[in-house]
Amino acid sequence: QGLSIHISSFLKVGPERVIMSSFFTDLYSKYENFPVYQDDTWVVTYPKSGTTWAQELVWCLIKDPKSPEAKLELKKRFPFLEDPGLDTTGMRKDDPMCPGNTWQILHNLSAPRTIKSHLPKELLPKQIWQVKPKIVYVCRDPRDVCVSFYYQFIKLHGYKDTFNHFVQLFLDDIMLYSPFWVHILNFWKMRHEDHILFLRYEDMTKDLAAVVRQVAAFLGRNVNEEQVSWLTHHCTFEEMSKNPAVNYDTFRMAPTQEAKEIKFMRKGKVGDWRNHLTEEQQKAFKQWTLKYLQGSDFPYYQDY
Ligand code: A3P
Repeated sequence: QGLSIHISSFLKVGPERVIMSSFFTDLYSKYENFPVYQDDTWVVTYPKSGTTWAQELVWCLIKDPKSPEAKLELKKRFPFLEDPGLDTTGMRKDDPMCPGNTWQILHNLSAPRTIKSHLPKELLPKQIWQVKPKIVYVCRDPRDVCVSFYYQFIKLHGYKDTFNHFVQLFLDDIMLYSPFWVHILNFWKMRHEDHILFLRYEDMTKDLAAVVRQVAAFLGRNVNEEQVSWLTHHCTFEEMSKNPAVNYDTFRMAPTQEAKEIKFMRKGKVGDWRNHLTEEQQKAFKQWTLKYLQGSDFPYYQDY
């Protein structure tokens, strides 16, 4: 079905297999050897976990949120390392002539660079683990991730099968960037390292101001309460939904009817899975989660 294009190639990495698009696997050595600098800041997540939210917050703390640059699209200020596939004109993003060429954008970025990636620990550029730039990692309840991902897949990636089938693919760990729990737990194990900040989407929803202070401290930025309150407001779901620099309304320019209806800033809620998952699917999520969390001290999502 629609998904087969995305699961057409498998990367073998240690004992885990990570599901990546063939676009990525074709260029893997380029990504593996990507140069990393000490003053980079990376936002790394499993998709649909609040990446864009964390990116805007991090960028505003590092650069000047009131500068004209802040009005540029996020993907230009904070490029997506393994930006997949085609741009809206149908040109491959690694084509040097493509206006949205990720490599060009990355190479033209002025220091300190801000970079987004969904790559799991094992596939990130090798230099990350020697150079140790700051990494903000965000995780989210997989049930909400799955629902959010489903809406992105039907609107943007031409997925045509049922929601039930999508849940099955997610739980079978054959979704893009899966296995989900391996992605999370590998960063969870590194959470005490100085260059890593491990955040939860659910905490950002509960007390964004506290997270703003936490991220500022991690990045070594002094912020006063006025700045905290400005940033907290700037990063609310309502404000980000209205902000063309971060709301990805440009996805609607992709050449399909479904893409015209995409709402990237969809709901921004914790627990939307309750409106989607049947009892049986909830049980399957629980079993899958317990399988991965057995023996782990990962404390979240105990409400299963
Ligand atoms: P939903 O589809 O559940 O609404 P990512 O950036 O990793 O792709 O994550 C996208 C998800 O984060 C979407 O979830 C989106 O609405 C949500 N999101 C983005 N900005 C947000 C904000 N400021 N507050 C709450 N949720 C936000």
